Order: sequence, then C-alpha cells, then structure tokens
Amino acid sequence: MYNLWINLLATGTIFLVIIIIIIFHKKNFFINHRVKGYKRNMKISLPLGNLGWPFIGETLEFISCGYSHSPESFMDKRRNMYGKVFKSHIFGSPTIISTDAEVNRSILQSDAKTFVPSYPKSLTELMGKSSILLINGSLQRRIHGLIGAFFKSPHVKVRITHDMQKYVQQSMANWQENCPVYIQHQAKNIAFQVLVKALIGIDPGDKLELLRIQFQEFIAGLMSLPINFPGTTLYRSLKAKKRMVKLIQSIIQEKREKNVMSTVNEDVVDVLINNTSEELTDELISDNMIDLMIPGEDSVPVLITLAIKYLSDSPVALQQLTEENLTLKRLKEKQRETLVWSDYLSLPFTQNVISETLRLGNIIIGVMRKAVKDVEIKGYLIPKGWCTFAYFRSVHLDDNLYDFPYQFNPWRWQNKDINNSYFTPFGGGQRLCPGIDLARLEASIFLHHFTTQFRWVAEEDSIINFPTVRMKRGMPIHIKRRESSSSIMQQHQYVH
Ligand code: HEM
Repeated sequence: MYNLWINLLATGTIFLVIIIIIIFHKKNFFINHRVKGYKRNMKISLPLGNLGWPFIGETLEFISCGYSHSPESFMDKRRNMYGKVFKSHIFGSPTIISTDAEVNRSILQSDAKTFVPSYPKSLTELMGKSSILLINGSLQRRIHGLIGAFFKSPHVKVRITHDMQKYVQQSMANWQENCPVYIQHQAKNIAFQVLVKALIGIDPGDKLELLRIQFQEFIAGLMSLPINFPGTTLYRSLKAKKRMVKLIQSIIQEKREKNVMSTVNEDVVDVLINNTSEELTDELISDNMIDLMIPGEDSVPVLITLAIKYLSDSPVALQQLTEENLTLKRLKEKQRETLVWSDYLSLPFTQNVISETLRLGNIIIGVMRKAVKDVEIKGYLIPKGWCTFAYFRSVHLDDNLYDFPYQFNPWRWQNKDINNSYFTPFGGGQRLCPGIDLARLEASIFLHHFTTQFRWVAEEDSIINFPTVRMKRGMPIHIKRRESSSSIMQQHQYVH
C-alpha cells in the first residue's frame, strides 16, 4: 500500500503527457525551484540534484527506469552525480530522495511533528481519512500498538499457524502433476484466507468469496487514474469499498450483539471493539480492516513467490533449505508431534532465505513522507512541504554494505543481526510494519510444506519491479510429489 501512490501515478503516464501539453501552452505555469530563505544559508543546504521539467519534474524518467531492465538506473545515476541524498521532483512534488541508511533511519524514527505519510489525494479518498496508513499521533500509535500486539501474541500465532497449515495443505492437495502450478496465484489465495480470518474472523465460504470479489474491484481503483465518475475504475472501486464496509460493519454488529467483550480476542476486529477508546468507531474499524487487507493480500504472496523463484535459481540453497525442513518434519513425526509456530521460526537457514528474499526482492521499495516543518538531517535540508522518499532498495543493494549485492546469498545472514539500519524491509520507528511476524510465519509455513512435499521445475519467468514487485507470468512451475508415506500422512492430517 505504502508505495501505491507510485503505482497509481505510474499507470497514469498518458494523463501526465496530456498535462505536459497543457503546460507548454501556458508558459508561465512553472514551479519555483528555489526554496525561500535558504538560498544564502551555507551551513545546511538543499541536497544537490535536479528538479527536472516544470511540473512533471523527473517523473517520466523515474517511471521509465522502473519499467526498464535496470530499475536502479534512476537512483544510481543521481547517486553518482550528487551523492546518496539528492533532490528531485517526482509525482507532482519536490522531493528529497535518500538512498543513505542513516538518513533513512532518521526519517523512519521521526514522529508526526516532523514528517507525515504522503499519498495522492485520490488514494486518500480510497483509504478513508481514518486509515492507519494516513492518521498520525496518538490514534495511530494506539491502533498500531493494538494490531502489532495482537499479531505478536503466542495464542494468535497458534491459531494462524493452524489456519495457514490447513489452507496450505488444502491448496497443495489439489495441485496436479500434469499442469503448471502458478505459485503467485496460489500464495495470494492462501494469504487472503489467512488474513481475512485473522482480521475479521471470516472462514472460507460464501462471505469470503464475496469479500474477495469486492476486494479485487477495490484494489483495481488503487492502480487507476484519479477520475471519479460513473463508469470509471475509481468509481467502481469506491462502490466496492462501500459494499465491503457494509459487510464488515454487519460482522462488527453481530460481534457486539454476541457481546464478545469478555472472551479472548479471536481477531483484530475483537481487539478494536474491545478497546474502550471512543475514537475507535465502527466506521474507523471497518475502514482499517480493508486497508489492512492490502499488504496481506499482496506483500506476503510476493515474498513467498520470490523466495521460490530465488531458490529455483539456486540449487545449493534449495538443497540446504529442503534438508533443514525435512529433518524437522522427520523429527516431529518420530516424536508424534505436530508442528507449532515456533518450530517453523526455529529453522535458521529458512529464516536466512526469507531475510535474503526481503533484501534482494525489495517488495516495498521505500516509504514517502511529507515534511511538516523545515527538517535538517545529516546536514541536509528538507524544506517544509517537500516530500522525502526513504528509498530502501538502494541501501539493500549497496555493495559497500553487502558483498555481491545482486547475488542471492542466504548465508550472508549467518550470525548477523537483522535489526540494523541497513536492513529495513518492514520500515521502522513508529510505523514499523505490524504484520512483520505474520509475514515471516506465513512464508516459513509455505516453504516448509512446499519443499517437503514437492520437487519442481520452474518455467522461464522474470521479476517485474514496477509499479509493484511481482513475477511476470505468476511463477509457473511443474511439480512432482515426493514419494514419502509421511508426506501423505501429513496431508491427511490437515485436509479436513
Ligand atoms: C512481506 C510482507 C510485508 C512487507 C515487506 C511489509 C512492509 C511494510 C513497510 C515497509 C511498512 C512501513 C510503511 C511506512 O513507514 O509508511 C509497513 C507498514 C504497515 N504494514 Fe506491512 N509489510 C508486510 C506485511 C504486512 C502484513 C501481513 C500486514 C497485515 C497485518 C501489514 C500491515 C501493515 C500496516 C497496517 C502498516 C502501517 C503501520 C502504520 O503506519 O502504523 N504488513 N509494512
């Protein structure tokens, strides 16, 4: 979601071209590239850089590099010319782009007195004013804290593990050896089921299918032109959102009537309705449930798909990961125990594969903020009203920080602390992703069942980095079930 404003505007290239034409006809429609009051200030200064063309700035170059085979070229060119922090003008706003780990860290650690999230107006409309992705201050901290604590709690991890195992096994039981399996699609299906259950407690069935259809319609609007009238994608998207809100509000109502107050919180809706704060209205809760579905529906499946892509291309890593998971599986079978969430997370090499996939895959390329006052970081000025783009991707691919950064090398994470400012796939500070544990757990469970049950050959496919990270063809693979009585036994255990 966080970089969806990029997606939105990326798909609006034609729109931008029309704007350029209008601009050239109205010659004085030029932005003022100078920043008042700082022209003569030599101590802290605007970073070097180029604001590009009037109004459109460097947006078109940014987009075209994103679509090219070298998505890094936009950043690399400017890093070489101006250093790790530079100014630009993208997506309608003068922007300080940081590819510097320390500067990114400061941006992530700042609070709403300094920076607020920045998204285009049409997205704000789709998300709703009370979305956790947009709100600031104490309400954001409260909701963030409640959601984060929920996903961290062991009893929730037990439930999520049970659900994930069940959905993974059900899905894998239907895979055919004689036709390709599209991993991206399968992972999306499973992650959506897990997330909807964890957020609003809906099990697979008619309601979930209804929600899935509406949700697909809704997210289509996030990638559309910001034009809202009957017949447009945005219009249909807003309508779909209304229908989803209605459905979720009826669930909230049912829960309130059943008076779940005294029972254990089974899902995020329970957590929020059981909180006594008057700010947490039904409208706010339902809006936020929809916004929370976006990262769950997209980022986790992409993480799973990319891990399988990298493993397919790296037989040694695949072998080590498979052996680690088979060893755990055999041990558990010997002890006649089922796997629990901590077992999945206890496998060091599997966790290293996930970390390396997050580093190399850069599912979220960075985060955008707007300065609410003049800000100085590491001697750089970020003027009030300007955007700042903390670009993680360049840091994750920096050869001063990672040897051979474009190589998939899970061993680089051995005995390495992943909590450092050079590795921020989940952001940081007050907005650190509250789904971090859920994402790692889901990926670990999928990888375990996949590698212990199947051998596979991947068809030719490539990674697309823009506007969102994904596999071009959805990662088709041809599978062969491993001949093992235990895997069959385990399938029977979960498939009902
Ligand atoms: C591989 C999977 C995921 C990645 C890489 C990821 C990454 C991120 C990043 C970078 C941020 C910071 C955004 C910012 O600072 O503006 C973030 C925030 C967030 N993520 Fe995730 N995320 C993932 C999965 C999830 C899941 C499964 C959920 C759902 C439970 C989730 C819910 C959220 C929410 C609600 C926020 C906003 C927090 C706030 O602003 O207070 N994410 N995520």
